[in-house]
Amino acid sequence: MSTLETDTDTTPNLLVCYASSEGQTERIARRMADVLSSAGAHVTLADVSEPLPSLDVGEFDGVILGASVHAGSHQRSATRFVRANRSALEAVPSAFFSVSLTAAYDDPEDRAPAREVLEEFLESTDWNPDETATIPGALAYSQYSRLKRLLMRFIAGRAGKDTDTSRDYEYTDWEDVERFARSFATQVA
Ligand SMILES: Cc1cc2nc3c(=O)[nH]c(=O)nc-3n(C[C@H](O)[C@H](O)[C@H](O)COP(=O)(O)O)c2cc1C
Repeated sequence: MSTLETDTDTTPNLLVCYASSEGQTERIARRMADVLSSAGAHVTLADVSEPLPSLDVGEFDGVILGASVHAGSHQRSATRFVRANRSALEAVPSAFFSVSLTAAYDDPEDRAPAREVLEEFLESTDWNPDETATIPGALAYSQYSRLKRLLMRFIAGRAGKDTDTSRDYEYTDWEDVERFARSFATQVA
């Protein structure tokens, strides 16, 4: 008698990966991973700035990538990741979120460059994710060098954001982050 093996495991296998210079994008990716896990998915979280020799992107049913903006562009590790895995990314539902200070600006016109930087990333990597978002990041003054602190204080001041460098500020809207993850879960399902 032969045994017929059927794959009855319908749990989606999802990858949430990120590039993060001061940690805010990582926090956002972790929150998305938590939401997806709670929705019943099996989730792998990965930092694309680290070597990932055993990661096969083609094994996942859906992929979310997040990266943050510094001096007008996203981390090179994020660009490299997309270029190296573009066909696997195009084969499944995928999403990209871009974290920046510009996305936290109050005036929608001032926020427009955040979307432009995101579009530039997609153009330069030739990737067409199903969902995208610009997400307000943080001012991590406590982590910056003296020069970076002065620069960021100047930029924040011009944008009407917080300039007291004795503490850090978080502008991320966590409800929006969770909504984005839930919407992605629906797309994969
Ligand atoms: C040196 C430096 C340069 C930055 N340049 C930009 C920028 O060009 N545009 C922008 O919108 N935000 C800029 N930011 C803000 C970051 O995008 C924001 O702090 C984000 O939360 C960083 O995410 P991460 O902690 O995951 O790296 C900059 C921050 C630093 C420290």
